[in-house]
Amino acid sequence: MQKFIVKPGGKIRGTIRVPGDKSISHRVVMLGALAKGITKINGCLEAEDTLATMAAFKAMGVPIEKNAQDQIIIRGVGLYGLQPPTEPLYIGNSGTTMRLLAGLMAGQEFSVEIGGDESLLRRPMTRVTKPLTEMGARILVSETGTPPLIILGKQRLHGIDYDMPIASAQVKSCLLLAGIYANGKTCVIEPAPTRDHTERLLLGFGYLVKKEGNKICLKGGGQLYGKSIDIPADISSAAFFIVATCIAKNSEILLEHVGINPTRTGVIKILQRMGANIELYNQREINGEPIADIRVRSSNLHGVNILKDEVPLAIDEFPILFIAAACAEGKTVLTGAKELRVKESDRIQVMADGLQRLGIDAESQPDGIIIQGGKIRNGIINSHGDHRVAMSFAVAALRASGTITIEDCANVATSFPNFISLAQHVGIDVKVKNNLY
Ligand code: S3P
Repeated sequence: MQKFIVKPGGKIRGTIRVPGDKSISHRVVMLGALAKGITKINGCLEAEDTLATMAAFKAMGVPIEKNAQDQIIIRGVGLYGLQPPTEPLYIGNSGTTMRLLAGLMAGQEFSVEIGGDESLLRRPMTRVTKPLTEMGARILVSETGTPPLIILGKQRLHGIDYDMPIASAQVKSCLLLAGIYANGKTCVIEPAPTRDHTERLLLGFGYLVKKEGNKICLKGGGQLYGKSIDIPADISSAAFFIVATCIAKNSEILLEHVGINPTRTGVIKILQRMGANIELYNQREINGEPIADIRVRSSNLHGVNILKDEVPLAIDEFPILFIAAACAEGKTVLTGAKELRVKESDRIQVMADGLQRLGIDAESQPDGIIIQGGKIRNGIINSHGDHRVAMSFAVAALRASGTITIEDCANVATSFPNFISLAQHVGIDVKVKNNLY
């Protein structure tokens, strides 16, 4: 049981680069593994989730190693070069690995079982198994639609047109990746834009993807080609320091080389609407992804309304946005966000409970939350093993009247292994306590 103990107050100062983008890292490893030739990656996230993706491909015979320059080198085996793993693939906490891998595994000649930790075994998978089955895949799941998944090999897939009932980049990506192995054309229609890293990277690896309005299509039978790639810092990790700087007094930070793909910058737009002092510098594009340095200064935030269409563009940043709302003047109302209930934890309930424990008026709604800005007091929070909840409450201590203790924090290592050292470096007074029992 790992705890974070965070002393109140402090100011934020410094220039930092947070680790590589998790979504992009997963996808580059997957496409690199299935490409012809070598993929060299700079800035790949090496956290438990992405290491789980690498381990899964290593278990299927893909050579993946690190060179002296700290680059990850993948010797791609080609689309039909994977070997059957000798054991079930265990992918820990990573929903992205499970859903994207399900698409890729559906088109293989061998069967696989994919399992994960307690949290992953509670997460809904019918959102991918149902459309994959329509494509001709055969997948066994529990009666409640949760993992482990057993994906049967030697099935002939065919393309479908799929109108996605939920805005989910994981579902979209799963189906596009399965579409590579399908006969004919696979199209997904999005109810609202979601992160488009899969589409950008497929193009980068030489695979044709067409987008018309909200419909994204590809044809089976193409080829991926290995390449050198530079992964930007993860805006979802940067978000903790963006909010930390906004809510702390006399603070300023520079976050370097952050990915600012427009399908990911909802957090910046929402915070700017709340009055945040955030500026983007040095905007450039690398490997098809826009990047910038982000300067943030202390800000006087006010509450806002956040509506359904904005939700997918900031889907992972709501825990930290709720901390910003708790420090803002007035009321923040989020609607259309029931997806937050099926993330690594039920992020609406877990955040509402935590905020209430700290004396903030936070009312959970079936599809959102209402938060009245106020004074944060000391308290003990249970993060329910959710990495983003744990990091969010660590940031909240900057404005608390006393120490905040956060329980069950080990999963911070799934996305942001050096969070604590960076937080200490910029001025958050946080200590880690590991209890054996
Ligand atoms: C991700 C998509 C999002 C996000 C997750 C990463 C991705 O999930 O919450 O952390 O890399 O595609 P959904 O697409 O299910 O909303």
